[in-house]
This record gives sequence, C-alpha cells and structure tokens, in this order.
Amino acid sequence: MLTLAIETSCDETSVAVLRDGREVLSNIISSQIEIHRKFGGVVPEVASRKHIESINQIVQESLDAANVKFDDIDLIGVTQGPGLVGALLIGISTAKAIAYGLELPIVGVNHIEGHVCANYIEHKGLEPPFTGLIVAGCHTYLVQVKGYTEYEIIGRTRDDAAGEAFDKVARALGLPYPGGPVIDKLSQKGDKEAIAFPRVMLEPKSYDFSFSGLKTAVLNYLNQAKQKGDEIIIEDVAASFQQAVLDVLVEKSFRLAKESKMDKIVLAGGVAANQGLRNMMEQRGLEEGIKIFYPSKILCTDNAAMIGSAAYYNYRAGKVDDLYLNVVPNLGFN
Ligand code: KG4
Ligand code: ZN
Repeated sequence: MLTLAIETSCDETSVAVLRDGREVLSNIISSQIEIHRKFGGVVPEVASRKHIESINQIVQESLDAANVKFDDIDLIGVTQGPGLVGALLIGISTAKAIAYGLELPIVGVNHIEGHVCANYIEHKGLEPPFTGLIVAGCHTYLVQVKGYTEYEIIGRTRDDAAGEAFDKVARALGLPYPGGPVIDKLSQKGDKEAIAFPRVMLEPKSYDFSFSGLKTAVLNYLNQAKQKGDEIIIEDVAASFQQAVLDVLVEKSFRLAKESKMDKIVLAGGVAANQGLRNMMEQRGLEEGIKIFYPSKILCTDNAAMIGSAAYYNYRAGKVDDLYLNVVPNLGFN
C-alpha cells in the first residue's frame, strides 16, 4: 500500500511517499526556518503564505523522488492538528483535492501521534507496547503506547513545552531561532554543573512537567549577572539549563517505565534530536535494562513521513475520513 502524506502544521512544508507504514520512498522537507529566523520565531501568516507557494511543487517532487505517479497512490494522509490554523489548511485542502481527484481514502492524522510513529520508520522491529516521551516545540507528553493507535496520556506539561523552554532560553541568550539545536551544541562545550538551576519535579507522584520556572530562573540569573557586571559564560548557562531539563525528562520517563514494567522507552519530537538527552537516556537505559529508541534527527523534527506512518496505522485500524475533514488547530492528544 502506497501512502502520500502531507505535513504543514508549522514551518515545514513536507510531502512523503511511504510503502506500508514503515518504508519511506521519499520525504521532501522544505523548511521555512530561514524566513522566520529574522522575526525570532514562526510568524503564522507568513508560514501559511509560504506553504501555499510551495505545496504543489513539493507534492510533485515527492512523487518524482519516490519514482511513482499519482495513480500508484492508495491512501492520502494529512496532518489535521494541532498546529497553526492557516498552515494546516493548506495541507488539508491539498490532501482533500488529491483524494477527491483520485477517489482515494483520506486519513487525518494527529501530529503528536505522527512524532511517535517516526520511530516505526527508523526501527523496523519496534512494536507497542512501550513508554513514550514526546518532547516537541509545542508539546510535552509522557505516554503509554499500548497499540499502534492506542495511547494513554500519563503526564503533560502544565506550562511551557520542553522545546519552547529551549527556544525561550536561547532567545534570552541572544541565540538564533530555533534555540534547541544551538543550546545542544553549546552545552557540549559548557559545564553542566556550573549553575544550579531548579529541577521542577512537582508533587511526588506526578508525571506532569513544568518548565516555565526554570526559564524564569535562567532569566533571573542572566539579569543578576548583568547588574553585577559578572561575566556570563554562555556555554555554562546552556549546559546547566539543558541538564536541568534532561534530569526531569529522564527521571520521570524511567520512573514510569519501571513502575509499569516496560522494557522500552521511545523518544519523539524535535527535542529527541538533543544529543545530551539521547546520551543520558542510553546510559540510564544500560543501567536499568531498558532499551531506548529515537528517530534519526531529520525524523525527530516535523516531516511528512511520520504522518504517512500514522495514517497507515490508523487506516489499518479502520479510521477513514471523508471530504468534510477539517483542521483542528488545538487538537488534543487522545
Ligand atoms: O517537533 P518539532 O519540529 O515541532 C513541533 O511539533 O513542535 O520540534 C521543534 C522543537 C523546537 O523547539 C526546537 O528548538 C527543538 O524542537 N529542537 C531541539 C533540538 N532540535 C530541535 N531541542 C533540543 N535539542 C535539539 N538538538
Ligand atoms: Zn512537531
């Protein structure tokens, strides 16, 4: 079964062709990051306009790269939400037009579920159940993945998402958008114990997260250092901040996996590209006898291949939408 998948929820216009749910024939990603960088973040209206300019071309490029034609496609998958309303609309309108023209089934995909499915592409033998840590720019969830389309949410952020915290701290440090990859790199040269930033664990048994206090602590540290005229070692701030985020993510993921006797933890979302997170998870995994999975960096951040995988598994589970399918910008998870 060949799936054509479209992702336009934020600032990447992406179209992929997959064979079944796991084999990627093409995954074209046209990033708008350079355009948004000068504004310090994604400008929704600009994002929509850029999607509409490039979507048709990206669809054709994706078909060409997969060496297939429209007629070979069996299923259309598209991100329904969550995301920016105008940006999502471009993807969903394109997907519906193709589905209508070719008389193909269409499946609307939850973007967050897509992030998890990126792992099926990368790890051919990976199957649920497992504990999942989804850490993206707008979302942070700790979940039990019970089946390919069956998720139980155990924890979520109460304020900022993990990626959002990286982006906001990077901005305070005068670093370019998106901040995650830059902080990741700087951290490798800094001392992660230089500054004692808080680890917000919340109530003893809670699996929720909170990162806004940590962000404020970094801002306070920077302001006080400036007022006192102290030297700010940017690598040390980056490394100490990153470690404070990772300590909480790793601790809660392992606590949940162990309590529920899961032997696999699967990372997903843009922050799963973080080298420090990967290393720390793997180290702890070795100690605890828990296997760690994460997608390659290109499949961690937004892409259509992961949407194609999720569309395939949803279709197989009996989910089909019709041409009334609409965007749901604040689509929840589960
Ligand atoms: O999954 P994604 O592309 O978008 C959402 O669905 O939200 O994630 C983007 C987020 C941004 O906040 C970005 O700073 C962060 O992922 N990110 C990273 C790294 N690469 C991307 N955060 C930490 N370390 C990285 N290497
Ligand atoms: Zn995403």
